[in-house]
Amino acid sequence: DDYDLLVIGSANADLVIGVERRPGAGETVLGSDLAVHPGGKGANQAVAAARLGARTALLARVGDDAHGRLLLDAQRAAGVDTVGVLVGGAPTGVALITVDPSGDNSIVVSPGANGRLTPEDVRAAGSLFQASRVVSAQLEIPLETVVEAVRSLAPGSRFVLNPSPPRPLPPEVLAACDPLIVNEHEARVLLGEALVGDDPADWARILLARGPRAVVVTLGAKGALVASAQGVARVRSVPVDVVDTTGAGDAFTAALAWRLGRGDALTEAAAYAARVGAAAVTRAGAQESYPTPHEVDAL
Ligand code: RIB
Ligand code: NA
Repeated sequence: DDYDLLVIGSANADLVIGVERRPGAGETVLGSDLAVHPGGKGANQAVAAARLGARTALLARVGDDAHGRLLLDAQRAAGVDTVGVLVGGAPTGVALITVDPSGDNSIVVSPGANGRLTPEDVRAAGSLFQASRVVSAQLEIPLETVVEAVRSLAPGSRFVLNPSPPRPLPPEVLAACDPLIVNEHEARVLLGEALVGDDPADWARILLARGPRAVVVTLGAKGALVASAQGVARVRSVPVDVVDTTGAGDAFTAALAWRLGRGDALTEAAAYAARVGAAAVTRAGAQESYPTPHEVDAL
């Protein structure tokens, strides 16, 4: 394989303002100076994997504008192959992000060019799929594009999905996930009326019964749960000082996908990914906060 990981997904300019607290409806609050960072769940995953040493390609669409150039520069600086990054069709996606003093964020995404990444674009990138051991996706691009990605997988390659932002998934996509990776919020939305109780282990079992080969529920500082035919296992996190959680889930997913492609068992890969996610929350921003292998080992 030419690539350890092919990421298909979004690329956004993150417009970030620190706030003491979020405004309610009809309210105005003053925040910090504006920071503009390269982001988007797909672009974030690609940078996270490349920084860990994975041979990584990104399939995405950005606008022919300054935000698009910011994103392409960040991918290339991290060593991601950008042959699959298409340019034009709409302005680059934008994420409006507020970060509060506890490091938690709220995000509104305007998809822009991400919404124009089509099934046809996926078919045109068939050689990238043939050359990739693992393919990873999220849901800031059209669902039919994700469906086409599943249909484009090379024999024996593995599909990893973080359904964020969450929405109902067709059985064909669920059945391909190995694993499906959700946080607590995403699990609640996907379970909908099937949600029972407050035990994430139960959520993982119910989600697993819907077809994925494995399910991972990320629990922030509490680590993660891993569910497969072998049962449910808990993976611990490492305690860190939280500065900014933005994009930590993307780093977790990328690290997990890469380690699975290298042959790690799911629990081992999730334990490593939890350390990568922990390192990412200790610094501001998404891509700029992602660790090198040395920094992960030092945790
Ligand atoms: O997961 C974090 C990302 O979500 C941000 O970088 C933002 O662009 C949104 O896509
Ligand atoms: Na961060």
